[in-house]
Amino acid sequence: MSSEKMFKRTVYCGELRKADVDKEIVLVGWVLRRRDHGGLIFIDLRDREGIVQVVFDPTIDADSFAQAEAARSEYVLNIRGRVRPRPAGSENPNMATGEIEVLCLKMHTLNKSKTPPFSLDDEGSVDELIRLKYRYLDLRRPAMMDALRLRHKVTIAMRHFLDGSGFYEIETPILCKSSPEGARDYLVPSRVHEGAFFALPQSPQLFKQILMVAGVDKYFQIARCFRDEDLRADRQPEFTQLDMEMSFVEEEDIRALCEQMLAYIFKDCLGAEVKTPFPVLPYAEAMSRFGSDKPDLRFGMELVDIADIAAASEFTTFAAVAKEGGWVRGINAKGCAKYSRRDMDGLKDFVGIYGAKGLAYIYVDENELRSPIAKFFTEQQLRQLCERMQAEPGDCLMFVAADWLTAAESLGHLRCEIARREGLIDPDEFNFLWVNQFPLLEYNDEDKRWKAMHHPFTSPMDEDMHMLDSEPGKVRAKAYDCVLNGCELGGGSIRIHRRDVQEKMFSLLNISAEESSEKFGYLLEAFEYGTPPHGGIAFGLDRMIMLMGNKDSIRDVIAFPKTQSATDMMTQAPGSVTLKQLRELHIRLAKPPKNEQPQ
Ligand code: AMO
Ligand code: AMP
Repeated sequence: MSSEKMFKRTVYCGELRKADVDKEIVLVGWVLRRRDHGGLIFIDLRDREGIVQVVFDPTIDADSFAQAEAARSEYVLNIRGRVRPRPAGSENPNMATGEIEVLCLKMHTLNKSKTPPFSLDDEGSVDELIRLKYRYLDLRRPAMMDALRLRHKVTIAMRHFLDGSGFYEIETPILCKSSPEGARDYLVPSRVHEGAFFALPQSPQLFKQILMVAGVDKYFQIARCFRDEDLRADRQPEFTQLDMEMSFVEEEDIRALCEQMLAYIFKDCLGAEVKTPFPVLPYAEAMSRFGSDKPDLRFGMELVDIADIAAASEFTTFAAVAKEGGWVRGINAKGCAKYSRRDMDGLKDFVGIYGAKGLAYIYVDENELRSPIAKFFTEQQLRQLCERMQAEPGDCLMFVAADWLTAAESLGHLRCEIARREGLIDPDEFNFLWVNQFPLLEYNDEDKRWKAMHHPFTSPMDEDMHMLDSEPGKVRAKAYDCVLNGCELGGGSIRIHRRDVQEKMFSLLNISAEESSEKFGYLLEAFEYGTPPHGGIAFGLDRMIMLMGNKDSIRDVIAFPKTQSATDMMTQAPGSVTLKQLRELHIRLAKPPKNEQPQ
């Protein structure tokens, strides 16, 4: 087992094809499987480009044959061999290299391997925590390697497109200042400045705006962002954005450029045609029709307003909500009259997650309507209901009555759940849209104050400016999200570029003049030196790759992701540090580290 003797690789395992027959080649790779068969040994050898079958014949080289006999899973082999067609009948159409095999002429075993803790050719069934602990093995699996390759191709395509469109790629700091808005910060203590902390950036937002003040005009960065927030399948504590900013642009310019860019990337990396321009739905319409600010438009089942019918009915629960101005809306679950009472109980629990107190339903049969609530409606009201919901025999009409946001979220999620259950979603479709005209502010009941829905640097819409003082909750923002298949892919806005407007925004958010000058004084000052109108957007790179690669979690497209509890299973980060390190940083822990006594 020595590397001096190593033959130099001439080709990757996964690249060999019929056209290579009779060529003498050199491979290196890992043993995926080994089979002894009729005096011959077959090894499936894998490298990052794929798998090829290698045949060992004792009559060709006894020493190589003996090494092949000793080889086990994940041994590293170096093989000089000749490509030959597989014997008729033994071709494997499921393998890219399935028409050929490599006859080994001479081989070196470059390294051995312990038996891996999980099989590398068996998808899905392995506990994710084990996969993350042995990430170097997990990444050897073709599906993971494909994701890394796709990610590489996408970032190259982004750079290529943006360079061609006049953007400069500029790095912004990782050691930043903590800011009071947004998610929780990751903090880094300063050694030199006792008691002071850096914060890791939640996004390069203010630096990119300052770059516009500087006259950069078009900026992008593939930027790492850090947010100490609760994790989900599509959220990580550190993640990557394609971050962009432009001067002298309106929302339409940014949308058009992003559409061109996404079409370019999807074509270049997946060969997929993306239809442009994308539909644009104002927030209010998206909520009203789909119960979501990131609606999945791959299927219909829009929400239908039946408040007027409910108000006139004897169903007091519904009538009361309708009369108070709440929402009474429903969806027509096509062909779902087959759902049992128990199915409906399950769906009632499902909408309960989003706060709905119940789920009323009507089965539409050939000659009758079956429903626990039908008795509260007159014949005419039922006819009206069916007509408005375009009910046909076999359908099941489902309704929620609640305050508007609860009803919207319940029905919005129910709509997606039914589409999933009924197989209404084409997994190969890429359905993009924009949602814009978001509310500028949302009221936070816990803190009893307004918070920015996007961020405090987003400009209000000109036509709503007059309501900033009187009805701030009604003011819409020049903010827009890019949605792909029901997932928020990116978000951005046209920014405030005047000091007085920015100060007004801070005061609406209850940020005192003192605090805003301490935290954002440099921005306010910069705004006084000829700031161009500007705007931008950031796309979640991890989410983009997840959707392009048809994965369920962004963890599957990040080389070294964190778990749900924000730890790295492989390195065991975060870990404890020595008392000496803490002292240098002027930090004393409430509880000293386990492995050290206080001195
Ligand atoms: P925002 O906070 O909407 O905007 O983030 C932009 C996009 O980043 C992705 N994203 C995440 N991806 C993985 N894990 C997370 N924890 C996470 N959080 C966000 C999403 C989201 O759409 N500075 C502004 C952008 C701007 O206004 O230009 C910003 O960060 O895909
Ligand atoms: P009840 O009159 O409470 O027995 O409810 C009759 C039916 O209406 C049941 O199927 C409930 O799940 C449903 N229901 C009750 N409250 C609501 C509500 N707020 N929205 C939708 N359905 C409801």
